[in-house]
Amino acid sequence: MRNSKITGLGRYLPERVVTNDDLAKIMDTSDEWIRERSGIRERRFFELGKDTTANMGTRAARMALENAGLTPDDVDFIVFATLSPDYDFPGSGVLVQRELGIREIGALDVRNQCTGFVYGISIADQFIKSGMYNTVLVIGSEIHSSGLDLTTRGRSVSVLFGDGAGAAVLQATEEENKGILSTHLHSEGKYAEELAVLDVGSSRSVPRVTPQMIEEGTVFPVMNGNFVFKHASTRFPEAVMEALNANGYTPQDLNLLVPHQANLRISQMVQKQLNLTDDQVFNNIMKYGNTTAASIPIALSEAWEQGKVKDNDLVCLAAFGSGFTWGSALIRW
Ligand code: UT7
Repeated sequence: MRNSKITGLGRYLPERVVTNDDLAKIMDTSDEWIRERSGIRERRFFELGKDTTANMGTRAARMALENAGLTPDDVDFIVFATLSPDYDFPGSGVLVQRELGIREIGALDVRNQCTGFVYGISIADQFIKSGMYNTVLVIGSEIHSSGLDLTTRGRSVSVLFGDGAGAAVLQATEEENKGILSTHLHSEGKYAEELAVLDVGSSRSVPRVTPQMIEEGTVFPVMNGNFVFKHASTRFPEAVMEALNANGYTPQDLNLLVPHQANLRISQMVQKQLNLTDDQVFNNIMKYGNTTAASIPIALSEAWEQGKVKDNDLVCLAAFGSGFTWGSALIRW
């Protein structure tokens, strides 16, 4: 049985650190409110003219390739997950193909928000399992800060998000029971508008952006926070259990859960519901906020570097977000 295995991880975080106190200078919020509700202490914001969603993804990808002992020429396919692409079209995957100087391989953009990286891993895994490709680059990269309402009007959403990129290299392996054991993807579109940007370049509008949208601030993300929180706290554990059950494991067998970094309170609730110890759950939202499609590969890359992901470990990735979409991946490292 041919499986896919993560052989390299990388990340890129913009240099500019924005603390909760920095935000409190430009809107009516406080370090205490943000920390208590979300666990976030600081996040990174991109540097205009230097960082782009694609080039941050490229930097993360270079690190992942280096860790895998590969060069860009070894890559057969690119999956790029983002909700904040450089252009409305084309997608950012083709820009990574250009920036890495790879031959004319395929590049696919994935639009699944916070679950984007898990969807990306699933896609890469299927391509590898089927024998179509041997080496696939999966990237999650986001620039949120240019699209947030950084005034008091937008504070309930804008304090949560940050910029960053992460990447993983997946390669084929013939080793039995190694690598990606299974992936599980879900959506529930009836809640599409509960966490969304409704009015940026929307094909529902003629013209696609109007001065009124800008004036009224409907170009910014909207979130029904309590509603999203409730769904997240049931869907996360469900997704983890689905992956464990599919492979005959229990939460006690898990070495590490790397949840999408949506809110530290959500991760803590998931940990409690699954009866996991602190050592079994990785969180870094305190430093980076919610980086959407980038949060899992950034966290996984840090966990791996800190020796928290070792050979033969059982690792679960789980995500929930806008769509609603959610999903999981179980990996024997
Ligand atoms: O990654 C995708 C998935 N996303 C998530 O999972 C996020 C899920 N939702 C959440 O994490 C939480 O709902 C939030 C952290 C966004 C909000 O926490 P909450 O405990 O649900 O707060 P709330 O929205 O009920 O607001 C409580 C109060 C309100 O004031 P009143 O009406 O009680 O006077 C808000 O106006 O806090 C106020 N508030 C703020 N105050 C200071 C809202 N945002 C802020 C702020 N600073 N940034």
